[in-house]
Amino acid sequence: MITIKEWLVNVVQLNKINVVGLGPGNIKYLSTAGIDCIKQAEIIIGSTRQLSDLKTIISEKQEIYILGKLNELITYLKENVERKITIIVSGDTGYYSLVPYLSKNLSKNILNIIPNISSYQYLFSKLGENWQNFRLASVHGREFDYIKNINDEDIEGLVLLTDDIQNPYEITKKLYNNGIRNLTVIVGENLSYDNEKITILEIEDYKKLNRKFDMNVLILKKGENYGKK
Ligand SMILES: C[S@@+](CC[C@H](N)C(=O)[O-])C[C@H]1O[C@@H](n2cnc3c(N)ncnc32)[C@H](O)[C@@H]1O
Repeated sequence: MITIKEWLVNVVQLNKINVVGLGPGNIKYLSTAGIDCIKQAEIIIGSTRQLSDLKTIISEKQEIYILGKLNELITYLKENVERKITIIVSGDTGYYSLVPYLSKNLSKNILNIIPNISSYQYLFSKLGENWQNFRLASVHGREFDYIKNINDEDIEGLVLLTDDIQNPYEITKKLYNNGIRNLTVIVGENLSYDNEKITILEIEDYKKLNRKFDMNVLILKKGENYGKK
């Protein structure tokens, strides 16, 4: 008797499920390897926005599956595992993506992962900065103690993926109210798209962030007068 995981590995030995990192979003940043996986797929899986970003390279003959409930996705993948499938994920495949969930519920061996640059890497490039001394984290549907972490002397700052609840205004308000000063706040919204917006201000001006945000990445960089020196 073989387990479902062993069966999946046997079935897809020659036919792995591709997981393609879209990069920051604009199709210009998609890799050649990613484009090949998308063009060769019988089934392409992604969010409505991602599939719309890729419309110029998706043909009418290809089947589209719009990402919804994750347990339904796993059922669908198991039912279609003998077909050529490509799953699109935003940014880098190795940074807060679907990959751990797919590995856990299918098998690591059946995934062919094509990485890309993350939204935060794109933002650092726009700023002309390196990011190796920053700590990477996310408050997108999860908790992270950014007040404790910003006080860590070993780091130059924090990078946070955000969501609608823990948005740049709520985060900077909390930092300010907890006495954090001497900090530059950088918000990158809709990165790589035509409506990209990068906002840079000092923590003292956090009230200017009291507005609605689109999809964004937040950099908290120690030191002030950023870009004015
Ligand atoms: C589920 S995480 C995926 C992160 C992705 N793997 C990456 O490497 O960027 C989704 C979060 O990534 C960020 N994000 C992804 N694409 C973005 C973009 N084009 N502009 C701004 N933020 C983006 C936002 O913080 C969003 O809430």
